[in-house]
Amino acid sequence: MLKAILIYLSQANWARRIITGWTFSRRAASRFISGDSLEEAMAATKKLNENGLLVTIDHLGEHVENPASAKDSAAAYFPLLEHIDRIGAKAGISLKLTQLGLLIDYDLCLENIKQILDYAEERSNFVRIDIEDSPVIERTIQLFNDLRESNFKNVGIAIQSYLFRSEADTHALLDAGARIRLVKGAYQEPPEIAYSNKKDVDKNFDHLARIMIDYSLTHGAEPVSMDGKTPPVVAIATHDEKRIKFSRDYAFSVGLKREALEFQMLYGIRTDLQAELNAEGYPVRVYVPYGLEWYPYFVRRLAERPANLWFFLSNLMRRA
Ligand code: FDA
Repeated sequence: MLKAILIYLSQANWARRIITGWTFSRRAASRFISGDSLEEAMAATKKLNENGLLVTIDHLGEHVENPASAKDSAAAYFPLLEHIDRIGAKAGISLKLTQLGLLIDYDLCLENIKQILDYAEERSNFVRIDIEDSPVIERTIQLFNDLRESNFKNVGIAIQSYLFRSEADTHALLDAGARIRLVKGAYQEPPEIAYSNKKDVDKNFDHLARIMIDYSLTHGAEPVSMDGKTPPVVAIATHDEKRIKFSRDYAFSVGLKREALEFQMLYGIRTDLQAELNAEGYPVRVYVPYGLEWYPYFVRRLAERPANLWFFLSNLMRRA
């Protein structure tokens, strides 16, 4: 119930206006967001790289409503890719298709992402498409398949274990050669299409992780690239220690090497676990968001953990 309200608030313009109007909100969000500017994102990336961690950088933005804004959102990725290349950062990028115009026009979005992929390819970089809520999932997967058919190899996608359809999607995407980031899912979906019970989401997460690991093993178990930009086929994106243990133990039992099993976590969450897995020899990639459009991303982080919300609200009350 609480999650449903917060996910609604994350998409409501009136709530955005109120919450972003409080200076404390931006300060609270800074736990999860590296900064407003490209320079701040690169400084965070440099620090993480120095600690042996890989990075994927997201220029925040989603649900863009006009073609000019979609073009502007796409344009933000060029200096980012250029900067990563220039300083030799071990970082790829992540983006959302609704940021590039998917809700406006499919072809506009396709054109925008193709330009980013071309630019990334010239710099041997990799682009991960985040997976959003169910109204755009079919189009997201369709667009990813169109990109693969147009021979773009430097693009991957994410899959959510809370959706019933994800098992079929995972098989199809692996067969199409996709590198997949497995997540539980951050939105609120109806019970007709998604597991509402955490136990079922977790069980499906392990099931999909097993499918991905088996596939990787029988298809060469390609490791993370030497420059740290391109992830392996299997990326397990969670802070849940039980899910991590399952993937680690299963991969070990079937003989998948560590370099072919990447763990991914969000900036500011479980930094202890990030360091631990890295010390054990697994590639660990941190998702580093930056930019002015931090509101929906921040509210989704509050929705994931009631303690974050109470912390935010109690501080807000104290200041009021
Ligand atoms: P779970 O929610 O069970 O949390 C396990 C533990 O992790 C908690 O007990 C707590 O310790 C810690 N934790 C989790 N969330 C926290 C938070 N917000 N603040 C503090 N601690 C927290 N989703 C999506 O729908 N599409 C996408 O493309 C992506 N992309 C993505 C990339 C990466 C790298 C990650 C790690 C996650 C995503 N997600 C996502 C988000 C994902 O779907 C999910 O909502 C979050 O990862 C939280 O779920 P956990 O898997 O961590 O498990």
